[in-house]
Amino acid sequence: MSAEALLSVRSLSVNFRTRSGTVAVLDRVTFDVAPGEIVGIVGESGSGKSVTAFAVMGILDAAAQITSGEILFEGRNVLAMGARERDAWRGSEASIIFQNPRTALNPIRTAGEQIGDVLARHVPDTATVIRAKVLDALRQVRIPDPEKRAKSYPFELSGGLCQRIGIAMALSCSPKLLIADEPTTGLDVTTQAVIMDLIRDLAHERNLGTVLITHDLALASEYCDRIVVMHAGHVVEAAPVAELFAHPRHPYTTRLLRSVPSIADDISQLQAISGSLPDLRRSDLPPCRFAERCDRRIPACDAAGLMLEAAGPSHTVACRNPL
Ligand SMILES: Nc1ncnc2c1ncn2[C@@H]1O[C@H](COP(=O)(O)OP(=O)(O)OP(=O)(O)O)[C@@H](O)[C@H]1O
Ligand SMILES: [Mg+2]
Repeated sequence: MSAEALLSVRSLSVNFRTRSGTVAVLDRVTFDVAPGEIVGIVGESGSGKSVTAFAVMGILDAAAQITSGEILFEGRNVLAMGARERDAWRGSEASIIFQNPRTALNPIRTAGEQIGDVLARHVPDTATVIRAKVLDALRQVRIPDPEKRAKSYPFELSGGLCQRIGIAMALSCSPKLLIADEPTTGLDVTTQAVIMDLIRDLAHERNLGTVLITHDLALASEYCDRIVVMHAGHVVEAAPVAELFAHPRHPYTTRLLRSVPSIADDISQLQAISGSLPDLRRSDLPPCRFAERCDRRIPACDAAGLMLEAAGPSHTVACRNPL
């Protein structure tokens, strides 16, 4: 792991037990997040972005099993923490916000009560102190009229305001790491930009290591410092944004880039990504899970032992025939 990493995910593999057998949903996922850095995780639906986030936060469902790897937070392996230590870590040092902010909130408690609940769980305080901290948390996510909003129930708030409440809850205990899993899906375009600007500003103001999970490469390119590309449970490439756009090395990354409207030179170049993710239950998955969709496949692609390798300073790629 690099000396300055806040979060370092090393060779993380996760299986799910299903009725039709065991599914290797994450296979040796590796990436770092530095303090204050915004790292985008992009990939198609089903590529393992949320499972990665949930594994880091320790909120995977019971059918999931971490079969190997390490998750280091400031050098400490969070997978080795006991349940109570991990619970305390979650919220106070690392937080997550979800897609669909309204359903992530409790419908029968006011915004202020919910933020207060999070604060009280981590630091016991008098009701008066908690009330002041709640208003402060609402101000920090730029909610107008915080006294009034603290008394509102989720159904009385717009989607954008609900997501700001979610962010206020996530940041109320001043964590060092924020994971945002599709935080703006379902919001209109203007609100999307307001929420993303807020996340970026807070990340910079607080030196908050941030993981932005999205299938929207254009959004990631606008807000992230670095991008990690996932395909079918593998990290296939990772690089700083400008480098990834100028010199993509993995054939899957180039396909993703060609599917972004602002990047394709003209509309006729816009391409959907052909093929679909392989069925991860298959016993004959090729070492490169993209091979069957790839127009650069060579015999070497079928040899075992594919790994992420350096393709330049802070650029890694897992491909036997990169561009
Ligand atoms: N509880 C579960 N049991 C079995 N398989 C699961 C379970 N949860 C997730 N998976 C599988 O893990 C894979 C990755 O899912 P994940 O939700 O991480 O994808 P994602 O990249 O977040 O997709 P999306 O963009 O749709 O949110 C998928 O193939 C999914 O079917
Ligand atoms: Mg997801």
